Amino acid sequence: MALLGCGVVGTEVVRLLNERAGDLAARVGAPLELAGIAVRRPDRVREGVDPALLTTDAEALVTRPDVDIVVEVIGGIEPARSLLLAAMKTGKSVITANKALLAEDGATLFAAARECNADLYYEASVAGAIPLLRPLRESLVGDHVQRVLGIVNGTTNYILDQMDTHGAGFNEALEEAQALGYAEADPTADVEGFDAAAKAAILAQLAFHTPVTAADVHREGITEVTAADVAGAKEMDSVVKLLAICERVPDGAGGSRGVSVRVHPAMIPRTHPLASVREAYNAVFVEAESAGSLMFYGAGAGGAPTASAVLGDLVAVARNVRGGTPGPLEVTYAELPALPMGDT
Ligand code: HSE
Repeated sequence: MALLGCGVVGTEVVRLLNERAGDLAARVGAPLELAGIAVRRPDRVREGVDPALLTTDAEALVTRPDVDIVVEVIGGIEPARSLLLAAMKTGKSVITANKALLAEDGATLFAAARECNADLYYEASVAGAIPLLRPLRESLVGDHVQRVLGIVNGTTNYILDQMDTHGAGFNEALEEAQALGYAEADPTADVEGFDAAAKAAILAQLAFHTPVTAADVHREGITEVTAADVAGAKEMDSVVKLLAICERVPDGAGGSRGVSVRVHPAMIPRTHPLASVREAYNAVFVEAESAGSLMFYGAGAGGAPTASAVLGDLVAVARNVRGGTPGPLEVTYAELPALPMGDT
């Protein structure tokens, strides 16, 4: 296997691959061997990472014949997209944590996976450690999901929680979230809601079997939420949370005329289960016709939780590669259109 990127998440993936090598080999039925790690700055010190594995030539690494799985934790659209496509086209299966790419151009990746008979797994792209995408993609695929609603950005939840519980200022709380490794490289993606919107698009696509991109998501971040707003909510025994909401829009005749996907701050009563989601935790409710209401809760950001999701995908993909059979493919067939906010 090859790793693209070695920041907070990548370093933790390498550490766990070393520490759990024996167990992982037993679970897969063969050792997981790291052939190389593509980085931009090889001279940076990365604890526990063998410098001999580092390379700046990501293009060569992803097409190496001794690499059968590529794990991408670089983030951003390019060069991540070209590298993943090159990997699949040369017969590799891929794992990515890249929500921005999946939300902007997932269709191109899914098409390449289909054409190349490759695995494309991306559990780490939404809600960190919480197993959420595979339940939607596999366990609930026979059901009729009506709504997915929750807190999917750890940084903004951390900021709002610090403002609520300690009266912290916005900037101070953001700096803490950055120091704890929750925030994106550019935290604008967190506080302006872009990160949550990308995750909402991925969730909606899986829940409703329909192409949804970040551009289809109505988005408002938390930069306009003031200390006075948080204090005012508190006086009303409520709390401010940044919510992602994906739902079918009824057509008035028992069916749905489309899906609505939005991200915005909302005031919710303290008695609501989402009000008790503290720090950088995430929580997502899924409402499905037959399954009823399901709640997924856990650590939504940070190196170790995200690395856990990556390793889960890695074992699953390695098993598929060994068995010669790829896992489930994405089939999005425009069951319902994504409706603009004003049309819902
Ligand atoms: N910046 C993201 C968050 C990281 O705060 O949730 C996990 O996707």
